[in-house]
Amino acid sequence: MAVAEQSSVVMDVQGLTKHFPAGRSSLLGGERRFVHAVDDVSFSLHRGEILGLVGESGSGKSTIARVLSGLYPATAGQALFHGQDVLKLRGRRRMLGYRSRVQMVFQDPFGSLNPVKTVAYHIERPLLIHHRTKRGSATRERLYELLRTVGLTPPEDVAAKLPNQLSGGQRQRVSFARALAVNPEVILADEPISMLDVSIRMGILNLMGRLRQEQGLSYLYITHDLASARYLCDRIIVLYAGHLMESAPAEELMREPLHPYTRLLLTAVPKPRQRQGRVRVEARGEIPTVVSPQPGCRFANRCPNVMDRCRVETPGVAEVRPRHFVRCFLYDVPSVEGRSAPGTGVGNG
Ligand SMILES: Nc1ncnc2c1ncn2[C@@H]1O[C@H](COP(=O)(O)OP(=O)(O)OP(=O)(O)O)[C@@H](O)[C@H]1O
Ligand SMILES: [Mg+2]
Repeated sequence: MAVAEQSSVVMDVQGLTKHFPAGRSSLLGGERRFVHAVDDVSFSLHRGEILGLVGESGSGKSTIARVLSGLYPATAGQALFHGQDVLKLRGRRRMLGYRSRVQMVFQDPFGSLNPVKTVAYHIERPLLIHHRTKRGSATRERLYELLRTVGLTPPEDVAAKLPNQLSGGQRQRVSFARALAVNPEVILADEPISMLDVSIRMGILNLMGRLRQEQGLSYLYITHDLASARYLCDRIIVLYAGHLMESAPAEELMREPLHPYTRLLLTAVPKPRQRQGRVRVEARGEIPTVVSPQPGCRFANRCPNVMDRCRVETPGVAEVRPRHFVRCFLYDVPSVEGRSAPGTGVGNG
């Protein structure tokens, strides 16, 4: 799929960093400790692009989406949405305005829908809040139109149902209809298919692809599943322990992965001609929880190519080929030792 040009950047994220307090250390003289959930991650999202965010559990994927949607404050960095830094948005009205343009869809459609409210309620509510329309025939028409758009027909019947009267796939379609109700430009989709039955996952991925084609939507598609990222995404970012390790156009990343971590992940992914199974992102060993990290590559302990330097210096991110970024000393990238302020990093995607 063609990737949009640089001029159509919708969201430009630089040095995104999120640390969570993790108590005080007994060893370090009571110093405050922090989980470094996301450190110095940079990327841009273009109009009509599907950008994959792939990584094991705990790598920081959801944290990135939550910070970008305003659910968590950022520790550092900036995220320019049409030139405005959304990490600094204050005030309900401004946040509401932003949320009407950047919506989130979560992993668990059941958890995000109120079990005692109808489908109509869930979709009409954002219409009433964001568009300040009154309940009436225009709102109803828009509701039906949205249900048709996401493939829930006949809309009159579906609108009256409660969440538990729908299948998991249908519930996730309701989540997308609810997100679409406010005419967003961007959808941050956090593992939207991971709780669904394998047989209906393709339907949701195809819906996402169709909405991109028809409405020019852009997505940040978060997943454990490299096979689905390859199917859907224009570009893929590989995260490990809060660091961006590699980012490249999806085909190139699959064909010529450069980072040892990405290579390890890809050994588990079936070739396109092989039977498509679900492939979760896994490599041997445990992903570390990064509490007050010391210098060094975060993947060093699991890396088959580890060098002495990797244990004491942190590699920066470098563009080693056009649009192909890697954080690894195998590629002669600069180290970032002594650089404490995030956001000074190279643009990486
Ligand atoms: N509210 C929080 N308070 C403290 N630590 C948190 C919080 N949310 C996330 N973390 C930590 O931040 C790190 C990244 O978590 P995150 O949920 O972003 O990972 P993820 O890649 O989405 O994982 P998964 O695939 O399991 O959803 C983890 O170490 C996690 O324990
Ligand atoms: Mg998550």
